[in-house]
Amino acid sequence: MEEKELETDFEKTIRPSKLDEYIGQTEAKENMKVFIEAAKMRHESLDHVLLYGPPGLGKTTMAYIIANELGVGIKTASGPSIEKSGDLAAILSNLEPGDVLFIDEIHRMPRFIEEILYPAMEDFTIDLIIGSEGSSRNIKIDLPPFTLVGATTRAGDLTSPLRDRFGIVNKLRYYTIDELVDIIKRTSKVLNTEITSDAALELAKRSRGTPRIANKLFKRVRDFALVDGNGVIDISITKKALDRLKIDDIGLDETDKELILTIIDKFNGGPVGIDTLATSVGEEVSTIEDMYEPYLISIGFLKRTSRGRIATDEAYKYFGKKHQDALF
Ligand code: ADE
Repeated sequence: MEEKELETDFEKTIRPSKLDEYIGQTEAKENMKVFIEAAKMRHESLDHVLLYGPPGLGKTTMAYIIANELGVGIKTASGPSIEKSGDLAAILSNLEPGDVLFIDEIHRMPRFIEEILYPAMEDFTIDLIIGSEGSSRNIKIDLPPFTLVGATTRAGDLTSPLRDRFGIVNKLRYYTIDELVDIIKRTSKVLNTEITSDAALELAKRSRGTPRIANKLFKRVRDFALVDGNGVIDISITKKALDRLKIDDIGLDETDKELILTIIDKFNGGPVGIDTLATSVGEEVSTIEDMYEPYLISIGFLKRTSRGRIATDEAYKYFGKKHQDALF
């Protein structure tokens, strides 16, 4: 718990609060600038925003920036934490005019609760059924205008009626090495810890295109620099720390490697079903699908086919493996 709180504080201090400080995601950022500016000029609430993409790419950061740029408050919830219709009604009726309501992991919100959101998003009203069967009646509650910012790692898991109610849809993409270098340099300033350019580049290369990973690794490397060095993060400290953390040259961790090597060694390169693969490496299917697979697919090591996952030739080459010829 304590580690988690510290982690959150750390993330808050290094999180940019304005669009101009937000590095990367240029397309989404430039579009958001226009939509925010227009909403402000019209004195209207911003249209609802859906942010989707792999974890750690800055969906939560973007939600906070949107509220900040609009000059409104933000209330937060997560899909799985909204269990009863009353939970959502309570959140909605607490909103101030213009507020951002950020719902993380919105794809995990129960379906029957989604239906309460539809009129809330469309007409800023909620329909509640009061009383027990026989003597129940419907009441309509007016809400202030608000902006729902929904975040999900799986846009495909949203029902189409919900997806269709977001006027603005942004896909967040993996960051380039250059963008990650900029983020690492920014973090180094915010945290008052010097990092050399070659060390920043090395960290960027091993961060799987993901700012959250870059910042997490930065924190760990900073520990090594403090204890084993003079506090400055240089290339040799960086390499040593990353090796100790078992992050390889291209940023793959133990689980990434295990996933690919399991497909190659135990399933002859695949195809292997996701359930079988998950059991074999001892991870949840959703963890593999949300956290590991997207990056392995993006670097061309893994493919999803209708018959299951397969390891690509590039993966074989990278791990120095040879295809086993069919025996019969
Ligand atoms: N920290 C984490 N993500 C960031 C981003 N996209 N831009 C700037 N700083 C960040």
